[in-house]
Amino acid sequence: MNDMKAIQFSRYGGPDVLTVNRVPSPTARAGEVAVEVHVASVNPIDWKLRSGLLQKVVPIELPMTSGRDGAGVICAVGDGVSTSRIGQRVCFIASRGVGTWAERIVLPGALAVPIPDSLSMIDAAALPLGGLSAWAALVSSAPVGPGRKVLVHAGAGGVGSMAIQLAHHRGAYVATTCSAANIDFVKSLGADQPIAYDEDDFSRTLSGFDIVFDTLGGEVHRKSYAVLRKGGTMVCLVAAPFENQAETYGVTVKIAQVLPDPEALARLVGLAAADNVKPIVGKRLAFDEFAEAHRLSEYGHGRGKIVLTIR
Ligand SMILES: NC(=O)c1ccc[n+]([C@@H]2O[C@H](COP(=O)([O-])OP(=O)(O)OC[C@H]3O[C@@H](n4cnc5c(N)ncnc54)[C@H](OP(=O)(O)O)[C@@H]3O)[C@@H](O)[C@H]2O)c1
Repeated sequence: MNDMKAIQFSRYGGPDVLTVNRVPSPTARAGEVAVEVHVASVNPIDWKLRSGLLQKVVPIELPMTSGRDGAGVICAVGDGVSTSRIGQRVCFIASRGVGTWAERIVLPGALAVPIPDSLSMIDAAALPLGGLSAWAALVSSAPVGPGRKVLVHAGAGGVGSMAIQLAHHRGAYVATTCSAANIDFVKSLGADQPIAYDEDDFSRTLSGFDIVFDTLGGEVHRKSYAVLRKGGTMVCLVAAPFENQAETYGVTVKIAQVLPDPEALARLVGLAAADNVKPIVGKRLAFDEFAEAHRLSEYGHGRGKIVLTIR
């Protein structure tokens, strides 16, 4: 195969700037594997990059292939990688600049994490970026455990749905915000105290929390300080900008560093295979529905993850 299909954008704009292009099929170099992508996931970073929202902070080269994570099968290996890996089912976060909405990608062999037969390709594709964002926040930056009280914002979303399950699995008491329509859904994930943001003000209901996981920024971030006990931790993803008020409230503010981290991804895969966490696929779209995938993600009210079938 010398060329392949990739979903790309050549200029910033709405979902209509996305096109299917034929591009050269990449070859695995030393230490790399080539992967036939079967399913990719849809993440807010995809539409944020395409729209130009991040052009001052995240420089990219155009045309750019959309997508950051997914799952597939290793089809070739470069020097130094065992040929026994050919045919292995894997999931991954690709290296920066490598879009996963393509029939084939290459990545360092270490970043391609094996998936057991018990985990479907779709569930495996839904796991990496959302799961590792939750992991970076609630395992690496502000570890949750038994007896800890944690508030997870946007618990119905791609990151939040994994964060609730991880925190619950690790024995924490979990409060979460979501719309009233998603209350039963977040309870089914293990939330002890769901709060409907369209009916109640979480900052008046909750207090004395050890950790707030802020996936939203802005006004939600500002109001979240009141929920923390003194000495508590606010751990944030880079979403909307916020003002750091750690000193005023006597708390710590951390930014979770979301990295490909194959060891953490392998542990997440293990948790999913053992049914301790479940990747939530709220929507599965066909390859030619790529623009709709961006639209739905940008709308921002999905349940769990959106995934896109690549082959
Ligand atoms: N490296 C990083 O820093 C990094 C990594 C991953 C994600 N992120 C960022 O983190 C954010 C979340 O990512 P995601 O993948 O979870 O997005 P997502 O799946 O699109 O999240 C959508 C969810 O947000 C909820 N929501 C919207 N407004 C809300 C509010 N005011 N209060 C509570 N929930 C609200 C919605 O719930 P309802 O439908 O119930 O309204 C929906 O379920 C994005 O901004 C993303 O860019 C950053």
